Amino acid sequence: MMNKKPANNWQQICDPLFDRHQLRLWLYQAAQPFDALSGNKQLKLHYPLKMAQKQGQKGILTFGGAFSNHLAATAIACEQLSMASIGLVRTDQLDTENPTLQQCHASGMQLLPLSRTEYRLRNHPDWLAQLQQQYPDFVIVPEGGSSELGVQGVSELNLTSTPDGNSQFIVSASGSGGTIAGLALGNPNAQVVGIAVVKDVTLQQKVKHFCQQANNWQLITGYTGKGYGRFDAKLLQFCLDFRQRHQITLEPVYTGKAMSALYQLIAAGIFPRGSTLTFFHTGGLQGLAGLRYRGLIAEADYKALTASD
Ligand SMILES: Cc1ncc(COP(=O)(O)O)c(C=O)c1O
Repeated sequence: MMNKKPANNWQQICDPLFDRHQLRLWLYQAAQPFDALSGNKQLKLHYPLKMAQKQGQKGILTFGGAFSNHLAATAIACEQLSMASIGLVRTDQLDTENPTLQQCHASGMQLLPLSRTEYRLRNHPDWLAQLQQQYPDFVIVPEGGSSELGVQGVSELNLTSTPDGNSQFIVSASGSGGTIAGLALGNPNAQVVGIAVVKDVTLQQKVKHFCQQANNWQLITGYTGKGYGRFDAKLLQFCLDFRQRHQITLEPVYTGKAMSALYQLIAAGIFPRGSTLTFFHTGGLQGLAGLRYRGLIAEADYKALTASD
């Protein structure tokens, strides 16, 4: 079956499963999906960067795990604007071989390790106030870029208007909550379905905090598997098959987990027949190198997922 690819960012995903349920699925992704700023990244960073520039600040200080897509994106975005960046990394010791940290370093990010205990304080107001005092010339951006400004950036993305008419559902991976909050605010005529990729009982609350006035969203928490960053051979195979069928690369931590969940939700019949669905490809493909580095995916699978067409 052919996939229609009429517009730069949109691709229709065809599958007999969707025909059986009388659904249409459109995937939205950046023209350069392997760009570390693609997906939700530059949207979430747009306003914090603007604010830093406007206030004459030196740059951005932010947080993330050692393989964080957000850290890599922040480093690159700051570099492009000739701004400084500081990354506080959840690790006891910085691993200079880690491809994500290498990218951050190459883009000029100052990397500082934070123990797990310290990292837990990352949203604590007193701790943040102290950090701000220590780094007065930096705009502090929370983990994952999920802040009011991050949400505002995402809310400017219209994912309702597909090349084939309006979609009624917009589906996205959800980690720190900002993305689906922004999508809900910016797409009031669609229902946003967030697939939680992390076991976090506070995620619902976090999303709600960012989009108090919206109620067109829901969080699905049953497809996290063993937790954030954990995946099994079946999920990896799903990503490999998807790439082969549709020439679109998913990775198993965010987009692959969410797309696989979407297939299962469709099979379970939760979407009304006749609906059009949008899937937001949130990027994060830089993370594949880290999975290979840790031996979590084999070299051959890495190559299959990242080969240029
Ligand atoms: C590739 C990818 N997809 C989805 C998400 C989830 O977005 P959010 O943290 O805003 O919920 C992230 C994290 O930022 C991500 O890196």
